[in-house]
Amino acid sequence: MKMKKEGTKFPVLTAYDYSMAKILDEAGIPLILIGDSAGMVFAGNENTLTVTLDEMRYHTRAVSKGSKNAFIVTDMPFLSYQVSIEDAKRNAGFLVQDGAEAVKLEGGTSIADTIKAIVDMGVPVMGHIGLTPQSIHAMGGYKIQGREKKQRKRLIDDARTVEDAGAFSIVLEGIPADLAKEITEKLSIQTIGIGAGPHCDGQVLVIHDVLGLYDNIKPKFVKRYVDLKKAISSAVNEYIDDVKRGRFPSKEHSF
Ligand code: KIV
Repeated sequence: MKMKKEGTKFPVLTAYDYSMAKILDEAGIPLILIGDSAGMVFAGNENTLTVTLDEMRYHTRAVSKGSKNAFIVTDMPFLSYQVSIEDAKRNAGFLVQDGAEAVKLEGGTSIADTIKAIVDMGVPVMGHIGLTPQSIHAMGGYKIQGREKKQRKRLIDDARTVEDAGAFSIVLEGIPADLAKEITEKLSIQTIGIGAGPHCDGQVLVIHDVLGLYDNIKPKFVKRYVDLKKAISSAVNEYIDDVKRGRFPSKEHSF
């Protein structure tokens, strides 16, 4: 909130394992999101709906060991908070026990009571509205939300309700840039954009997209900073060649 007031933009990246969390933390990322995008980029599923609480707990334990300074937010996966508030509170508590410092829930007005209940038990909540991947079937696919007037108004109401419920921050995913700007100006909590243009208070990207490790889909909003897939392939090819030709292990790698 201090950074929002000062106008300093806030960078966020996802991580799912110890080694990556350590790299991001040491590089100075202030917030690591253990996203349920793990279901796609880590586990190879088509969408995020199959991710379980146990899987998110496993990723949370690994990431929290790798990160010393970054604030850790874990996604509550599908079915872990929609069935009952009691369930949601207990599951948020498990994630905190595993190392999460906050949890993220997808949805607006419909889950406001759940957000409030989790916040009231002392667990900070990050909201997530717009293109919410856990509702992919209801949205009819990964489609930009808030293009029509009615939907736009609903998203502004959702954002306000999430803030009023006590969330400390909110992800705006897959919405037009001017709508994200309007929401960002209206809220006093931090907005974190992904596919929501340049006017949000912060930005989040999936680490596999940033590093060029996942090329099944390449959304327009992704900026790839390095092609690690290419770098890894070439290193692996070199290793294969070295082993086949007897160049590795050499004397220096032997006892
Ligand atoms: O699951 C995820 O990684 C996310 C971000 C992309 C916002 O929710």
